[in-house]
Parts: sequence; structure tokens; C-alpha cells
Amino acid sequence: MLDTRKTLLLSALLVLSVSAFVEELDDTFLKTKGDDEIWLIEFYAPWCTVCEQLDPVWHQIGSELKSLGSLVNVGKSDAMESKDLTKEFKVQSVPTIMMLKKDVKYNYSGPKTKDGIMAFADRVSGPLVRHLSSVQLFHHVKSRHDVMIVYVGATSPLKGNFTSIAETLIVYSYFFSASRDVLPKEVSLPSLPAVVIFKDGTYFTFNEESDGDLQSWINRERFPNYNQIDGYTLYAMGESGKLVVLALGEEKSLSAESLRYKSLVEKVSTDYKDIYSRNFYFGFMKGSEYIDGLVMGELSVPTFIVVNLSNDGFFLPPGAVQTERHLLDFLNGILDGSIQGQGGNSIDLRAQRLFYNIKVTLKPAFVKSPVYCCFLISLPLFVVGVLIRLCRKKLPASANEDDDDGAILAPSLRRRKKLTDKKSD
Ligand SMILES: *[C@@H]1O[C@H](CO)[C@@H](O)[C@H](O)[C@H]1NC(C)=O
Ligand SMILES: *[C@@H]1O[C@H](CO)[C@@H](O)[C@H](O)[C@H]1NC(C)=O
Repeated sequence: MLDTRKTLLLSALLVLSVSAFVEELDDTFLKTKGDDEIWLIEFYAPWCTVCEQLDPVWHQIGSELKSLGSLVNVGKSDAMESKDLTKEFKVQSVPTIMMLKKDVKYNYSGPKTKDGIMAFADRVSGPLVRHLSSVQLFHHVKSRHDVMIVYVGATSPLKGNFTSIAETLIVYSYFFSASRDVLPKEVSLPSLPAVVIFKDGTYFTFNEESDGDLQSWINRERFPNYNQIDGYTLYAMGESGKLVVLALGEEKSLSAESLRYKSLVEKVSTDYKDIYSRNFYFGFMKGSEYIDGLVMGELSVPTFIVVNLSNDGFFLPPGAVQTERHLLDFLNGILDGSIQGQGGNSIDLRAQRLFYNIKVTLKPAFVKSPVYCCFLISLPLFVVGVLIRLCRKKLPASANEDDDDGAILAPSLRRRKKLTDKKSD
């Protein structure tokens, strides 16, 4: 009896002490917060089940950051109540996770896991560009990052560009700087300053003449050549402009055939890196839910598919892909135009995809799906948006079709959003 009571008391205390690390924020927040404070904030709504599932994670994050002595304050805010705050942060769906640092807001679009969110908080709260002051530090960091973006050299206008790009892309990647002597001797740089990306056991040096502008190049190259891919990663990869070659396997336990597909795509990505890495990324994805939303149908897994995230287009192999040769023929067919692309982002297709996704989303089983989870606030709004667009289609074409998408609120339909949207200020 006493023991039960003790346990109850203990757990009550535990809940109290844990929740003390997460502050409930309302509309007074912007007036009361200090100028130099850094905040990690979750916007939620009482009826949102995903938010409810996130709650224990959020409290863990709060207490863990506190025990690490982090400068990051953790808060949450009821989006239904704090209208001003919601407006200020341009919150359009729940849960939305944002970071506020020096009045700049950073939007988190990765998986809603403790590790993902903690890493985001670490990236954003620290310096935009982290200096690697020694050979040891360089090797240590390199061993922990699949992809490492490094500015090499002294202060220069290029460094200015690099830093301002970091401000946009820090939500996804760390940015580093180092002097030449910190890099391994075998790295050959034609001139300094330079921007170098280390990945896939090699490195790439930015060349303004052949690579164009620095931000597009970093966006193009900031993923590993082969990757285990989820919906979030795929969405982010839309910015790269490369096609993504995917082997799709089962969601849970992989069949032998799926494993064969997986090793085939991995092998081709490595063995033919020099030929294909300019145009393609490669990956393996568990479950086809996300891709089903793109192709508007249920693919039977395992299968191969190549997606063009720039225009929501896709390519399916013309026949069974049994061998490496088949896969190479498939890729070559895409490059030489002999394999016809399907899908796309015409208005009609976008509308169809919208309705397909609504249909699927409203099936409760899909509530857990990462990209469709946040529909509810936005659903009525973007249905209206689409209706407006559909009506507008009858009018003379508007000047800039692509930039005013009625479905901005639904990431499933806008896999590719302008990066500037993600870092709003
Ligand atoms: C750096 O930024 C300036 C001004 O925005 C731009 O004109 C220049 O092309 C940029 N340089 C690179 C290498 O991207
Ligand atoms: C992918 O989409 C972009 C944007 O519409 C287009 O320019 C490009 O040609 C497409 N790539 C292929 C291989 O179809």
C-alpha cells in the first residue's frame, strides 16, 4: 500500500520535474523573451494525435538539453490559443517545430524523433560555420559525418557567401571551415579559398565555372551518393535537382528479393559512381507509401523506380530488373530519353494527386505517415486553394504558375519547396 503511494508520488514528482523543462508559451512570449535567447518550440493543437505522440519525446528533449547544459530553451505552444505567435512564426500545420535564434526562425522538417530534433537543435544553436582548428578535430568530425561541407582558406567574399548559405541550409547540414594545413595532404586544391565537400570516400571541390552558383552546388551535392531514404530525406532531396534511383522494399521485414534489389542498387551506385553521380542519387526505401502518393497507385514491392522530384515525374523500368545490366539499361534509357517519363506537375495531375492523397490520408492507418500527418488545419484551406487554381486555369495563364501554389500547406503535393520557405524570417 505504502509502496504504491510512494511510487505514485515519485512518478508525480518525476512528471513535474520533467515538465519543468518545457515551458508553455502564449502570445506574451515575444515580449517577454530575452534578445539573446535561443528557443526550440513545438506548435501543437489539443486534437492532434501526432502532437500527442510527440509530447513525451518533447519532454525528454527538454530535460536532456537541460542536463547537457544547453543554451536552448524548450517550449511548446497551443496553436489554437496563441494566434499572434502562430502568425509570427507562420505556422500552417501542427505539429510544427521551429527554432528561434537572434530573431531568425528556422523550421524543422525532418523526422519527429528525439535524435533528429536534438541534432537540429544542436546545428542551429551553434555557430553557423564551425571552425576545425586541428587535424585531430578534422578527422574526428569527418568520421561522424557522411557528408562534410568545408570552407578552406582565409576570410574572403566567398566565405561571406558560404556563411549566408549556411544560414539557410543549417537546418539540414553542418557547415565547417578549416585552414589548408588541417586537411589531409592528399587533398589537392587548385587554389584558395575553396569549398570542398567530403563524401563517399572522396571529395569534390567547388568550381564556379562548371558548377554555377555555390548554393545550388551545395544543394546538389549535400547528400551521400547512396543512402537509406525516408520520406523526409526524399522531400529534401528535391532541392538537389538530381534524379533519385530507388529500390523500394517492404515496410517491415524485408524479403530476400528486396535485399537483392537493395544490394543491386547499392552496388551500381558505387561501381558506376563516376558515370552516374552527376545525374542520379541512389537509395533504398522501406515501404512504398510515399511513392504511392506520387505515382497515385499502389506499387508492388520490391521494385525499382526513378523519381524526378523537380517535377514530380517518375520512370518505371520497362521490364523486370533481374541483373545489373538491366538496371544500367534502365538508367541509360532515362538519360538518352528512350524511356518515357510519367507523372509530372501539371495542374491536372496536381489536382488528381491532391485528391488521391486526401483519400489516402483520411484512412486512419495513414495518420502516422510523416508527410501527410499535418493536414488537418490546412485541409480546408488548401482545398479552397486548389479550387481557386482550378478556376483560374480557365482564365488566361497567370504569369508565374510555379510560385503561387495553392497547396503550399500540403508538403505531400509540394515535395519541392523553395528553400527560402523553410527558413522564414
Ligand atoms: C557570392 O554572392 C554574390 C552576391 O550575392 C554573387 O554575385 C556571387 O556570384 C556569389 N558567388 C558565388 C561563388 O556564388
Ligand atoms: C526533371 O524535371 C525537371 C524540371 O521539370 C526537368 O527540367 C528535367 O528535364 C527532368 N529530368 C528528366 C530526366 O526528365
